[in-house]
Amino acid sequence: MIKARATLGIGAGAPSGGSALALVPTMGALHEGHRSLIRLARERAAHVVVSIFVNPLQFGPTEDYSRYPRTFDADLEVCQAEGVDVVFAPSAEDMYPPDRQVGVSAGEMGSVVEGEFRPGHLDGVLTVVLKLFNLVQPDVAVFGQKDAQQLAMIRRMVADLNLPVSIVGAPTVREPDGLALSSRNRYLSPDDRAVALALSRALTAGSALRAPAEIRRAALAVLEAEPSLALDYLVLVDPATFAEVGDDHAGEAILAVAARVGATRLIDNVTLSLH
Ligand code: PAF
Repeated sequence: MIKARATLGIGAGAPSGGSALALVPTMGALHEGHRSLIRLARERAAHVVVSIFVNPLQFGPTEDYSRYPRTFDADLEVCQAEGVDVVFAPSAEDMYPPDRQVGVSAGEMGSVVEGEFRPGHLDGVLTVVLKLFNLVQPDVAVFGQKDAQQLAMIRRMVADLNLPVSIVGAPTVREPDGLALSSRNRYLSPDDRAVALALSRALTAGSALRAPAEIRRAALAVLEAEPSLALDYLVLVDPATFAEVGDDHAGEAILAVAARVGATRLIDNVTLSLH
């Protein structure tokens, strides 16, 4: 594992169009979705850095920080197979010295939707992402659309703080039956997994419609038909602000869902074009 940007040898091969260095921030437990982010990064830049860091700051006190899957050796193999130049895997002590004082606030947008159910989560995400940007200094950073509010907030941080990095969003990768890939899927028993399929089914039901009220109703009906699913939220929101859209909304909207299946919390979303 190479830990310093200096070992990259930037300048040895000039990028053919696009930017020189792309960062794919991850918390490890890499799956096909992460591979798609890495491939997108490789299309955009001559050099790719993957960071692997389970960020304690973005987990609430009752969340799964300690049991979050850590599969470092397998992750390194994935990175090697995908032609990643550098894997940056700092320790929690390196990232957060005990005398740390300053972090990023996700503002009001960080307290709605995911932020309402996970107070402080988006502050923690933005803080680590800003630190990773400062440490790696990428020209491009790639994030999955599955964490739609995270992606929207990172775009806001880049705009609001004038950060010199381009943000690329990558489409969600799904299993053939619709389940969105997630590192947390490995918590699911076969029965849980069958229940979890209601999330993508609900989004598909909503996607067939165009009026916000009907979209919400159709998606909710699918979720309510699955009694062992505990719904946190189902929302139809503006992709840039994550404010709920009104009935007369025209343009893009994100239909987003979060629910718990047993002890596992899953999120999913789809982008709709409303006229
Ligand atoms: O999406 C994730 O895996 C994490 O939230 C991120 C962006 C790596 C920050 O810890």
